Amino acid sequence: MDFKLTNKVAVVLASSKGLGKAIATTLAQEGAIVVIASRNADELNATAKEIRQNTGAQIITVPTDVSKAEDANNLINQVGEQFGRIDILVNNAGGPPFDKFESFDDEQWQKAFELNLLSFARLSRLALPHMQKTGSGRIINIISGSVKSVLANSVLSTSMRMGIVGMAKLMADELGPYNITVNNVAPGLILTDRIKHTLPKDEDPEEAIKQRAANIPLRRIGEPKELAALVAFLASEPAAYISGTTIPVDGGAGRSIY
Ligand SMILES: NC(=O)c1ccc[n+]([C@@H]2O[C@H](COP(=O)([O-])OP(=O)(O)OC[C@H]3O[C@@H](n4cnc5c(N)ncnc54)[C@H](OP(=O)(O)O)[C@@H]3O)[C@@H](O)[C@H]2O)c1
Repeated sequence: MDFKLTNKVAVVLASSKGLGKAIATTLAQEGAIVVIASRNADELNATAKEIRQNTGAQIITVPTDVSKAEDANNLINQVGEQFGRIDILVNNAGGPPFDKFESFDDEQWQKAFELNLLSFARLSRLALPHMQKTGSGRIINIISGSVKSVLANSVLSTSMRMGIVGMAKLMADELGPYNITVNNVAPGLILTDRIKHTLPKDEDPEEAIKQRAANIPLRRIGEPKELAALVAFLASEPAAYISGTTIPVDGGAGRSIY
C-alpha cells in the first residue's frame, strides 16, 4: 500500500528516543520530511543523523520543551517559515511519574497537566492554521493503554490521557469539515528507556521483562516500530476516513470489551 507520505511535512514531538524516535524513523522511511523536537539538543542531533543515514530523508531538529509555550510557538513558527505547511502533527511527551494518588501534590498535578495535556492542546492549536490552509491534516496523540484498563500507580498519566481522549473526540468533530483527522494511539508495554527505568533494580532485566510479558496474550513486550507502523498508517492518505478513535497497541493486554 502506498501511504502517500512523500514530501509531507511531519512534526513529531518528544522524538530523540523511544516511541517518538521510532515514529520519526518510520515516517522518514515513508518519504516524509520530519521535524523532530525534544529538550536535549545533542541527543536530538544524534538521532537526526542516525535517521538521515538510515533513510536518506530530510530531518530537521528544533530543540523544544513541549511544556513551554515559548518553545511550542518557536517550533511551529520555524516549521511554518521553512516549509509553509504542516501535514502531520504527532503529539507526544515524556511520561509523568508513577505513584499512588496520595503521593502527588498540586505542583506535580500542574506539571503533569502542562506536559501531558496542555502541550497537546497548545501544539494542535498552533499547527491548525497550517493544516486548514492546505485543506488536510493529521493529528495523532500518543497517550497510554491506561485509558482502556486500569494500570496501578498511573493516576497522573491516566487523568491527563483521559482528558486527551475527550479533547480529541471534540477536535475530530470540529475539524472534520477541514479534512483534518484526529486520533489517539494508546501504547501498552513497549520497550523503551522509560520502561527500562521502571524495571526493579535488584532483578535481572531480562527476567523482569519476561515476568511483565507473562500477562500479555502475545507473551512479549512490544517494539517501538510496531507502534510507529500504526502511527504512519493513521498519518497516511489511505487512513483519511479514520477519525476520533483511540487505538491500543498492546499485544492484546487490554481486557476491556467496551
Ligand atoms: N513505552 C511504553 O510502553 C509506554 C506505555 C504507555 C505510555 N507511554 C507514553 O508514551 C510517551 C513516550 O514514552 P517513551 O517510552 O517513548 O519514553 P522515553 O523512551 O523516555 O522517551 C521520551 C522522549 O521524550 C522526550 N521528552 C521528555 N520530556 C520532554 C519535554 N518536556 N519536551 C520535549 N520532549 C520531551 C525525551 O527527550 P528529552 O529528555 O531530551 O526531552 C525523549 O526523546 C510517554 O508519555 C509515556 O508515558 C509509553
